[in-house]
Amino acid sequence: MIKAIRGTRDLLPPDTALWNFVEAAARDVFRAYNFHEIRTPIFEETQLFSRSVGEDTDIVSKEMYTWEDRGRAQSEKGQSITLRPENTAGVVRAYIEHKLWERGLNKLYYIGPQFRRERPQKGRYRQFFQIGAEAIGPPTAGSESPARDAEVLEMLATLLDRLGITDWTLELNSVGCPNDRATYNEALKNALKPVAAKMCADCQRRAVTNPLRVFDCKVPEDQPIIETLPRISQYLDEPCRRHFDAVQGILTAVGVPFTLNDRLVRGLDYYTRTAFEFTHGALGAQNAILGGGRYDGLSESLGGPHAPGIGFAIGEDRLVMSLKESADAVARKPDVYIAPLGPGMDRESARLARELRRHDVVVELGDETFRLKKSFENASKMGARFALIVGENEVKAGAFALKNLESGEQISVPRAELAAKIQSAS
Ligand code: HAM
Repeated sequence: MIKAIRGTRDLLPPDTALWNFVEAAARDVFRAYNFHEIRTPIFEETQLFSRSVGEDTDIVSKEMYTWEDRGRAQSEKGQSITLRPENTAGVVRAYIEHKLWERGLNKLYYIGPQFRRERPQKGRYRQFFQIGAEAIGPPTAGSESPARDAEVLEMLATLLDRLGITDWTLELNSVGCPNDRATYNEALKNALKPVAAKMCADCQRRAVTNPLRVFDCKVPEDQPIIETLPRISQYLDEPCRRHFDAVQGILTAVGVPFTLNDRLVRGLDYYTRTAFEFTHGALGAQNAILGGGRYDGLSESLGGPHAPGIGFAIGEDRLVMSLKESADAVARKPDVYIAPLGPGMDRESARLARELRRHDVVVELGDETFRLKKSFENASKMGARFALIVGENEVKAGAFALKNLESGEQISVPRAELAAKIQSAS
């Protein structure tokens, strides 16, 4: 038997109704904040990710699905291509490629699959879904302002509230900018020099190439050493500190609670200044439902104009896991099961189904060869609220037997009143 590949899964009904519920809420909230949808390709040139997310990150160094595409001619060398592990790089590429700033398109959102070759476990998959948004643009569009950071964070709090998710914590940090990062990297390197030899192989490498990435380490034995390292919060320059203070001031003013966490550096290299994660108590080890931050230099590093930005991505798989709502409560079941009774009744039933569906009634159709008992069994298996019996007598009389499958009550309803009758009972 052929099964879905490890780390991937089928999303089945009724759960898919929950996914649609989440996506519809996200689209609604994004609309209110003037974000517009963008859909970028699922695969991109490999160097898009190595140049943005960064060579030393776990994502780029260990987790990407990369292959060499065939060249056009037999002799031609192919291009290195990667399934997107995240969507920020693709959005910024598209922003540059289509000069979106010229059209005033500064706020974009996306919903779609991402791919990382991680060790699968609860809440961690190799194909997972993100709902993300990016606010990017020239500084004249307000893209650099701390007000934008606060707006994005407040939007996230609004979305989680809307979904009935209350048990979240916003962890907030500033990772500074190239100016203060240089001093900080020096300090980190110096602090790591005497201790790096005691750390894992990854950390020994990071200590030399990209010391900030040491904070991504999950090895338990390394944690006491990491605890002693200097923190970026002590190295922020004056503009970065002012920016961070302003973000916190607005969040407090709008009533979005947060906790400061100066160990939070995020696992991607493009971040500057504000970095954040929302965690959820009930999720266990993979408790980050979303993460994001500011990336003021990303556009330029990909050959674009100066276009500061801030964004986030929600792990949709994890968000759905943390919903209190049950899939059954959200899924729409058939309102009515039409049971054609005897030869020739499929035609009449098809006509009736067409009329009812035009009135937004959810209809499931039986078959004229089914006995009534089988039709009723089918109807209750699907959770239909009513069964509608379409026999020769009913067609002649212009009125149909409508059976409430919960109460067992059966009444005769004239054709013209059917849709209203079925809907009024919902
Ligand atoms: P990230 O922290 O790598 O950030 O991913 C964001 C969220 O995606 C995580 O908090 C988590 O909920 C979910 N996620 C990540 N990996 C997996 C996985 N293997 N299985 C299930 N869920 C997962 C980014 O991707 C950045 N692009 C976010 C961003 C946008 N920053 C600025 N703009």
